[in-house]
Order: sequence, then structure tokens, then C-alpha cells
Amino acid sequence: MKAVVCTQYGSPEVLQIREVKKPEPKRNEVLIKVFATSAHIGDTRIRRVDPFLVRIIFGLFKPKKNLILGLEVSGIVEDVGSNVTSFKAGDEVFALTGFGLGGYAEYRCLPEKVKEGKQERKGLVAIKPSNLSHEEAATVPAGALTALKNLQKAKISKGQKILINGASGSLGTYAIQLAKYYGAEVTAVCSGQNFDLVKSLGADHVIDYTSEDFTRIPQKFDVIYDAVMKSKASKCRKILKKNGFFLNNYRQPKIIGDDLLFLKDLIEKNILKPVIDKIYPVEEIVEAHRYVDKGHKKGNVAVTVYTGK
Ligand SMILES: NC(=O)c1ccc[n+]([C@@H]2O[C@H](COP(=O)([O-])OP(=O)(O)OC[C@H]3O[C@@H](n4cnc5c(N)ncnc54)[C@H](OP(=O)(O)O)[C@@H]3O)[C@@H](O)[C@H]2O)c1
Repeated sequence: MKAVVCTQYGSPEVLQIREVKKPEPKRNEVLIKVFATSAHIGDTRIRRVDPFLVRIIFGLFKPKKNLILGLEVSGIVEDVGSNVTSFKAGDEVFALTGFGLGGYAEYRCLPEKVKEGKQERKGLVAIKPSNLSHEEAATVPAGALTALKNLQKAKISKGQKILINGASGSLGTYAIQLAKYYGAEVTAVCSGQNFDLVKSLGADHVIDYTSEDFTRIPQKFDVIYDAVMKSKASKCRKILKKNGFFLNNYRQPKIIGDDLLFLKDLIEKNILKPVIDKIYPVEEIVEAHRYVDKGHKKGNVAVTVYTGK
């Protein structure tokens, strides 16, 4: 099969399309024909070795042989292992590959269930929301699940005031919609050019970070989510209520298969939708990474792997 291999650490040009071995599903796995993936900021950070920990996980001096990036996918189940009961060939699915990566490829195998101690729980594959294209669905798992779990950690609830910094990015656009779903009043921090976008997602108030320091405003918040990781808890303390909650993404939240089904339900009820900035064909993956590297994408960047035509 064809896959985008990360041949070195460095600039987007290190990504090259190569022929690699097609995976075969184990007894508990589904084989997904990947229709779309995303150019996720996490992929670009691994490629750029940011942070250094990347080298410990993915190869000290150069990436492990045939390292294929891609944290999330959408596609069609082509085959299933003998123990798989909840998926069959032909099912349209979306999935989080997580740090197992491998989404930038024609095929990816993922487990239907994963072991947790002596228990088994659902894996991070679910039937795709019926109202999304593969490109849209491929941008949901990482960003929306991270935003969801972070807001749940802060126990966001009806009537609370939340400030979201980086509201126009992937996490920000999901966080606005999820905070509104939980009944919160949302102040979105982004540049003025993205005011219309964040308001269309439900933001009640907007602050332009290019002309105003949000940490100096007189209002106080129950929750501050620094989704874009450009601020600090110490700076935000002044605008946080007593017992308020400061969040960022330093700790990766624990995500389970039911979380993906929860998002699917919100999407099918038109409560949540992915914002797609651009869609690139996989042959233009270098361009896609170049664009994400600039740090100004609006929502998400999708990558078409297979058009089905
Ligand atoms: N996305 C995920 O699933 C995920 C998961 C875990 C951790 N993270 C981490 O969380 C951070 C954000 O990820 P992301 O995917 O949401 O990023 P992103 O989509 O690349 O963020 C880009 C957005 O951030 C805005 N922005 C840039 N500088 C800003 C600033 N100083 N203040 C406010 N907004 C600013 C940009 O708006 P302008 O063009 O107007 O500047 C742009 O819309 C990254 O550090 C990432 O590694 C992300």
C-alpha cells in the first residue's frame, strides 16, 4: 500500500509517499481503508521534534523505520478479525489512532476492544456520524475528544462563565460548541478576523488577542481554557474566580471508546460540527503540513487519502 513516511525529523519535505507493507487485521482488529485523515498539529510536532520526548518515543536520531504519522482517520471497514463482533466489512467508521499514529496510509488496523487491567472496553473506533463526509469525520477524534475531556475535567456546567484562548483553532472551535452544549457563557479569544467564525459557533463575547491582553480584563471566569497553550495559569489567576479552574493541554486526558460515541451523537443532533479550513489531497501532504506549521489554521485541516472513485 501507499503511505506517507516520515523519513527524517525536520521540515515538511521529510514526508514522502512510499510503498509499504499492507497491514493484516489480528483476530481482534478491523482493517480500515482510509478515506481521509488530518494534518493535525500533533503530527507536525512529532515531525518537528517538539518536544524532545518525541525522540524517545519515535526514534532518537531519526524516526523509526517507516514511521507513518496520522492521529485520526475516517474510512470504510474492509475486513475484520475472527473475534470482531461489532463491525463488519462495508461499515463507515472514524477513529483515533492516537500515538499509535498510522493514519497517513491507505490502510490502518485498529482493535475493536482494548484491555484495561482484567477488563475489556471499546477501542477508539466507532461508526462514522452519518451527516459528515470522511474529511470532516477525520478531524473529529483528536480535537473534539481532547476538548470534551478537558471541559469535563473542569466540570463545566450551566450558567458558568468560560474563557477560551485560541478559540479559532481546532481545540478552540470544538471547545466553544461543547461549552455552549453544557450551558456555559463563552468568551472567545482570537484575532478579529475570526470573530464571525467563533460567534457562528456560539461564542457570546469576543476578545482580539492582537489588541487586548485578556488577562487584564475586569471580568472573572469559572473556567479558563488556554486551548492554544500561549498563556499561563499564573497570568490568568487575576481573572479566575475563587475555586475557578484553569485548563490547558499539558496532560493528555484519558479517552475511551464511549467518548467517541458521545461525540457522534452530538454531531448527528447538529450540536457539534467540525470546522474545516482546508482539504488537501494526500499527494500534497507537504503543503498541508506547511500550512499547519504557520499556526493560524481555522479549526482543522483534512487530508483526502482515497477518494473512492
Ligand atoms: N488539536 C488537538 O487535538 C490537540 C490535542 C492535544 C494537545 N494539543 C495542543 O494544543 C495546542 C492547540 O492545538 P490546536 O490544534 O487547537 O491548534 P491550532 O488549530 O493550530 O491553533 C491555531 C489557531 O490559534 C490561533 N492563535 C494563534 N496564536 C494565538 C494567540 N497568541 N492567542 C490566541 N489565539 C491564537 C490562531 O488564530 P489567528 O490566526 O487569529 O492567530 C489559529 O486559529 C497545541 O499546542 C497542540 O499541540 C492539541
